[in-house]
Amino acid sequence: MCGIIGFTGQSQAKNVLLEGLESLEYRGYDSAGMAYFNDNVIHTIKTTGKVSSLRKKVEAAPKFHSTCGIGHTRWATHGGVSHINSHPHTFGKVTLIHNGIIENYHELETMLAAEGKHPVSQTDTEIAAMLIDHLYQGNPMEALKKTMEFLEGAYAFCILLEDRPGVIYCLRNGSPLVACHCEEGSIIASDMVALIKYSKEYFVLPEQHIATLTKDQITVFDINDKVVTPKMLYMNWDISSAMKGGYPNYMLKEIHEQPEALRSTIIPRVREGNLPDLSKDGIPHNILDNVNRIIITACGTAMHAGLIGRVMFERLLRIPVTVEIASEFRYQNPIMDKNTLVITISQSGETADTLAALRLAKAGNAKTLSIVNVKGSSIARESDYVLYTHAGPEIAVASTKAYTCQLSCLYLLAFAFALEKGRLSEEDCSKEMENLLQIIPAIEKTLTFHSLAEDISRNLKDCEDLFFIGRGLDYALSCEGSIKLKEISYIHSEAYAAGELKHGTLSLVTEGTPVIALATQANVYSKMISNIREVRARGAMVILITNGSDLIDSSICDYHFALPYLAGDFAPFTAAIVLQMLAYYTSVGRGLDVDQPRNLAKSVTVE
Ligand code: F6R
Repeated sequence: MCGIIGFTGQSQAKNVLLEGLESLEYRGYDSAGMAYFNDNVIHTIKTTGKVSSLRKKVEAAPKFHSTCGIGHTRWATHGGVSHINSHPHTFGKVTLIHNGIIENYHELETMLAAEGKHPVSQTDTEIAAMLIDHLYQGNPMEALKKTMEFLEGAYAFCILLEDRPGVIYCLRNGSPLVACHCEEGSIIASDMVALIKYSKEYFVLPEQHIATLTKDQITVFDINDKVVTPKMLYMNWDISSAMKGGYPNYMLKEIHEQPEALRSTIIPRVREGNLPDLSKDGIPHNILDNVNRIIITACGTAMHAGLIGRVMFERLLRIPVTVEIASEFRYQNPIMDKNTLVITISQSGETADTLAALRLAKAGNAKTLSIVNVKGSSIARESDYVLYTHAGPEIAVASTKAYTCQLSCLYLLAFAFALEKGRLSEEDCSKEMENLLQIIPAIEKTLTFHSLAEDISRNLKDCEDLFFIGRGLDYALSCEGSIKLKEISYIHSEAYAAGELKHGTLSLVTEGTPVIALATQANVYSKMISNIREVRARGAMVILITNGSDLIDSSICDYHFALPYLAGDFAPFTAAIVLQMLAYYTSVGRGLDVDQPRNLAKSVTVE
């Protein structure tokens, strides 16, 4: 939610800021802006719309000469999408950009109104600028420390002070900030994708800390004004991994990166004898000792990965598992104790609700383990144990490769736990691992079905509603297929447990209604076929997905994806690819912005 960047250094700030904002645009694209020192005076340029509009305005600005500036790309929370609500916001001596939500902004506004100070925008951010200006009496650190005492909510700020040219002040509480110092100068941003071009070494600004950036150095202070040395991290992503690499957009690139992403996620965790090995991840082999309950909590697609994880865990471990939507879980006073393992799943590692769920689990004495893609992110740092997905940067708003890598981590955990608990023999575990490795060539093969997906999408692109149906793992996958299609094509769809349709929803299925039917599960295959016949009898256009080419009666569907056969419970991996491709080509067919769908943003750092 909102991307922010600050740069101060030897070279021109313009390109560092614009390129940085382009790489951060997945975080929000309602408006964009920047502020910079030129001849010791702060100038601001902002616009509604995307960073490309900002770029045009900046390119047109006469004599843009600056080595210190801040930039913002907005996902609107408080206040509509308008020029006045775009960041940066200036009040008095203070110009700032913000990612997060100031929860007590109304009280602060009332307090400042009593001093005769009034905002011009409808944003919580401008109130923060007013507050800092109000508290600033010549000592920036004093003002910023006091500001943190007043503010409630989540924030990451980059701040310019009129009388401190060349310096950027940053505050962090709850919203991410990563920084590096390199040859060009000092850079800070919401996400390391904005830093990759400049340095592989970076650090995460710790919560409740203040950083000052000058061209020569970055200094980090804790709330007591003490200088702290943050832990340096090393990023193994390179610049090309954060670029489109010849693809028309990031989503298609990321769909095609899945074999490689899965290879990187699975292979380092396979030890001799083809057995799972999570010891290098620091996950103790006996983590399940005394655990009598597992809770998986996450949001959106990551939560859908959890639904598949539940089926696998319960099948293999016979321990009760529940999957909880993090935004619900955090307010439900859930039952947990030291015998509960809470697994959080998050690509970004910064999703506000998932982070809150993790903190709740810790407060409830549960053991916590996270499956996270972004190294050093808040969820990764705060969990007892982390299993990283090595998907590389995922930039398209719709999650693809992170999802299948999350699935692979859940399978690895299920096999490792089952081996440890004696529920799988070494021999059986090794077979499961062999089968897991087979998903990689199978996905490569599935990717070649893109023309079929593109053809079918021509029949989907003008429909108003469609249904995804499945049973067991296929139902969990239907939920993912449905969100993927909705978010990028704007077509309404619903995921249904196939057996549940006739309890109400079947009345919506009429002549020509598209139904995407997943029938990859051997144990419920014949039941699925009956459910497909039910929708078929009402005139549904059926797109059938099966594991292997097995099909008793070709008249039950209009289109058929016969996935490369995978033994065991692995078809979700290949079926997911088909669902991603159907969503992708439908969105492209409708002429939509696949990577940046309306109203959404990638990293949801607000509740
Ligand atoms: C959908 C999608 C979202 C995310 C959700 C959680 O394609 O990407 O539903 O899965 O916002 O995000 P993370 O995984 O970063 O916690």
